[in-house]
Amino acid sequence: MQKRKIKENVYWLGAVDWDRRLFDSLIPLPDGTSYNAYLIQGSEKTVLLDTVDPPLAEELMAQLDGVEKIDLIVSHHAEQDHSGTIPRVLERFPEAKVVVTPRAKGMLIDLLRIPEGAFITVEDGQTMSLGDKTLKFIHTPWVHWPETMTTYLEEDRILFSCDFFGSHIATTDLFVTDQGRVYEAAKRYFAEIMMPFRAVIAKNIEKLAGYDIQMIAPSHGQLYDRPAWIMDAYRDWVLGAPHNLVVLPFVSMHGSTRLMVDHLTSGLVRRGVRVELFNLAVVDIGKLAMALVDAGTVVVGAPTVLAGPHPLTAYATLLANALRPKAKYLSIIGSYGWGGKTVETLAGMIPNLKVEVLTPILCKGLPSEADYNALDNLAEAIAEKHRESGFH
Ligand code: FEO
Repeated sequence: MQKRKIKENVYWLGAVDWDRRLFDSLIPLPDGTSYNAYLIQGSEKTVLLDTVDPPLAEELMAQLDGVEKIDLIVSHHAEQDHSGTIPRVLERFPEAKVVVTPRAKGMLIDLLRIPEGAFITVEDGQTMSLGDKTLKFIHTPWVHWPETMTTYLEEDRILFSCDFFGSHIATTDLFVTDQGRVYEAAKRYFAEIMMPFRAVIAKNIEKLAGYDIQMIAPSHGQLYDRPAWIMDAYRDWVLGAPHNLVVLPFVSMHGSTRLMVDHLTSGLVRRGVRVELFNLAVVDIGKLAMALVDAGTVVVGAPTVLAGPHPLTAYATLLANALRPKAKYLSIIGSYGWGGKTVETLAGMIPNLKVEVLTPILCKGLPSEADYNALDNLAEAIAEKHRESGFH
């Protein structure tokens, strides 16, 4: 695709990756993604903001045909989907300097072997004049690595935010056209890579509140020409209370755990608690991550296999531990044939979660009347905890 004008002398460059279905060999991308770079031509200096994932480098290099010089390459984030083509750009524009946070400099030297003399490091709040346009660098760590920053173009009031506020969507629409679709994709993205760092991200959001931001230009997905709603959404995901919602990832081998899951779900719904089920045998883990953003309680449904939890439930539990959702309560339900350490093993996998563990329920074989009664008690306990906590 050709470069596209955003504002006077400000252009979108980059590549739309329609085919990609997995990121970091982990994160599903059901709608593909884009790698957005931006070109700002000031009266004195020209700057390129970020690049593209190396497999699509030729698209960016073609868009740079006809650009006489690049003085600066701003690298907001060292991850290779944005930085990986910087060495190619430096080959064509060897006089360009790479503008980074001090921490990003070391990371780019490690990851891409860019020579030390190519860098200019900038402090938080530092400005840089392009002549008739001014860049202000705002350090915003952990969106999504510790070295990340954003750039505010003062005259045009555009925030170039890199992963922050991004969404994985492949589209030819430059700006958001379907807010519901972008909300879901942005929430999925937040859940998968930023949720664990909520405390720092809250500070970043507070820092940005001091700026008049009329447009957000992220490095994945569409640009926001009315950015208030996505900033409000982030405030909710980061600072909002958990919802009156139980997220229930489970797997069942011969049906016993499924019977327990269905009984508990009915009991919760009867008591006014919303439930989202995720059968781990068929799940899109991005959907599970998204549900965890709002969960008040997580219940893992795990059959016992080879004396421990089914490996798919161990994977989901490890993932939840890594994502550190704001859920306040957790329980485990499941079944076994003759013995095992399912509860102990899963309980040992969640050291990062600040949760109260509600009494787990493991049944032998098919659930008995006593097991169903225990599940009703668990549903009552969860509903009561949610009421006490004010989850809505
Ligand atoms: Fe889009 Fe963290 O890179």
